[in-house]
Amino acid sequence: MLPPSTAVVGVARGQDASPRQPAAAGGLLPELRAATRPQHDRIEQLLALQAPMPLRRYAAIVLGFQHFLTGWEQELVDALPARLHGWLAARSRRGFVAQDVEFLAAALPVDVMPAAARCLPAPCLAAAFGALYVIEGSALGGQVITPWLQRDLGLTPGRGASYFHGFGERTGAMWKEFRELAQAEVGDAPADRALAVRAAEQTFEALMLTMGPLLR
Ligand code: HEM
Repeated sequence: MLPPSTAVVGVARGQDASPRQPAAAGGLLPELRAATRPQHDRIEQLLALQAPMPLRRYAAIVLGFQHFLTGWEQELVDALPARLHGWLAARSRRGFVAQDVEFLAAALPVDVMPAAARCLPAPCLAAAFGALYVIEGSALGGQVITPWLQRDLGLTPGRGASYFHGFGERTGAMWKEFRELAQAEVGDAPADRALAVRAAEQTFEALMLTMGPLLR
């Protein structure tokens, strides 16, 4: 369930934040979205970013993302062909999360080591795009979350809220480009589609496993 304030900004999961392309019926992206909808709801509840929270809870979430993205990105580099490494690096949001970790240093948890879990069921291109779907898609949610961080914690891009803001107004165009590339690269072979879906599911689970101990 999306909180009412999400509806106010006019972006609900299931509608694209980007200029809408006609979704290919039976395409890869609708399949990924349908398969992972319950996990999206669970992670949204776990993080509970729509509700006011103490700064140290938010700092723990940011640290969790930093830890998670480090392992996730390495798995992707290992799975993607070299021709896509530059493309991947240009979309990385690890620099943004590092800025936030630095800004929030005084509020970070000191005694919890987040779990490390693998995201890809196999080091191949189809699985990589399934895992990418989760993190690329989360940038859409980030556009909704950023104003909440300013409202509740006084954080702004460059001052603690860089990760969720990410590429800001470029987010919609980057999402459109990702969707087209994912469809073209993974194609329609059922075995590849199944690998992408498994990787997306595993990525959501791995992220929840990372965040769990940090939010206890
Ligand atoms: C409180 C936390 C969150 C909120 C409020 C939220 C909200 C949203 C919203 C408004 C959208 C855009 C609408 C759409 O295109 O469907 C979206 C899309 C998406 N979010 Fe989240 N989100 C949250 C957390 C996350 C997290 C932590 C992840 C994974 C790391 C995630 C993954 C996705 C994905 C993959 C999509 C794309 C769905 C699709 O169109 O296929 N979200 N989310």
